[in-house]
Amino acid sequence: MAATMMKANNQLARASVQGRAARVCARRAVVVRAAAASDDLGFKTMRNGIKEASAESLLTPRFYTTDFDEMEQLFSQQINPNLDMAELEAMCTEFKNDYNQRHFVRNETFKKAAEGITGETRKIFIEFLERSCTAEFSGFLLYKELGRRLKSTNPVVAEIFTLMSRDEARHAGFLNKAMSDFNLALDLGFLTKNRKYTFFKPKFIIYATYLSEKIGYWRYISIYRHLQRNPDNQLYPLFEYFENWCQDENRHGDFFTAILKVRPEFVNDWVAKLWSRFFCLSVYITMYLNDHQRSAFYESLGLNTTQFNQHVIIETNKTTERIFPAVPDVEHPEFFTKMDELVKLNNKVIEIGNSDMPAPLKALARAPYVERMIAGIFQIFIMKPIDCGSFDLEANQTQLSY
Ligand SMILES: [Fe+2]
Ligand SMILES: [Fe+2]
Repeated sequence: MAATMMKANNQLARASVQGRAARVCARRAVVVRAAAASDDLGFKTMRNGIKEASAESLLTPRFYTTDFDEMEQLFSQQINPNLDMAELEAMCTEFKNDYNQRHFVRNETFKKAAEGITGETRKIFIEFLERSCTAEFSGFLLYKELGRRLKSTNPVVAEIFTLMSRDEARHAGFLNKAMSDFNLALDLGFLTKNRKYTFFKPKFIIYATYLSEKIGYWRYISIYRHLQRNPDNQLYPLFEYFENWCQDENRHGDFFTAILKVRPEFVNDWVAKLWSRFFCLSVYITMYLNDHQRSAFYESLGLNTTQFNQHVIIETNKTTERIFPAVPDVEHPEFFTKMDELVKLNNKVIEIGNSDMPAPLKALARAPYVERMIAGIFQIFIMKPIDCGSFDLEANQTQLSY
């Protein structure tokens, strides 16, 4: 009897231990499932903590390459005696001053703030950080290569490019570190070797980089000022760094202004006018569509995506018209009506892309919307532009008028 009772007690004790273990396991499983769910935002990883880069599309940030021999000619003082070396040397000294050397220092608030961002907001934050990091890194790669290639042709310009690549490396690194707060960083070395590079002739590289620096400036400063006015929306400390950060972008843009000023053929004929409008519109439309696809991000910061975008475009355009020979008339009442129409059509295209339709049917369903988007972009392109710039075209002079 005693033996039977002991056996029963042992069984009970075992059952109790097993039960406890099972409950602990179950609890752990719940915790693990919860952690997995919070991190399972649908992002693919290359390895633990390293995010696979998002698929490239027309609207994603690109890496650029150019004709470096032609770039050398552009910066050769023999071929281009108009180069204002005194101005470039002064700029180089400014870059060497390295005003933001001690600016990009993280603190303990980053990780904690990232942990507090959950669900859909977490997902769109990671997407924002990735896009920004890729764009900054793209600048780093291009400027670094230009710094290397121009060393013997024009050491001052080469040094400016190298110093600008220093800034962009800092910006990209800071953003990538922010991504690691969300447990998903980018492998920038892998991206360097594996991402597609888009080729632009030097003239177009200068238009495109000028614009991306200036629009970058206006984006950063507008977000910064908004969050200064609305500190409750400061979800993550990254944005507190934008005020000094955007001054780097402004200086980079000013360097390209100096380059454009001494190349009259880049800014003083009808071809230059067409390309100027084309690049302005490409940059504005890409940003407008991209940001409206991710309006939840801007809303999470308390921004109205449309107002924010329109403000950035209007301000960038005002800055750009001081050097480009023509810019779109973005303050024409129809300009943003047409841009909003593009957003609606783009939403339709995305909706079809996300549907369960078989791929060939998706392509068919998308076609009329894509066609209307192309027509819409063409309509925006043929709107009467603003003639502007720094050259007195009527007198056919190449002298600066400011
Ligand atoms: Fe930058
Ligand atoms: Fe920059």
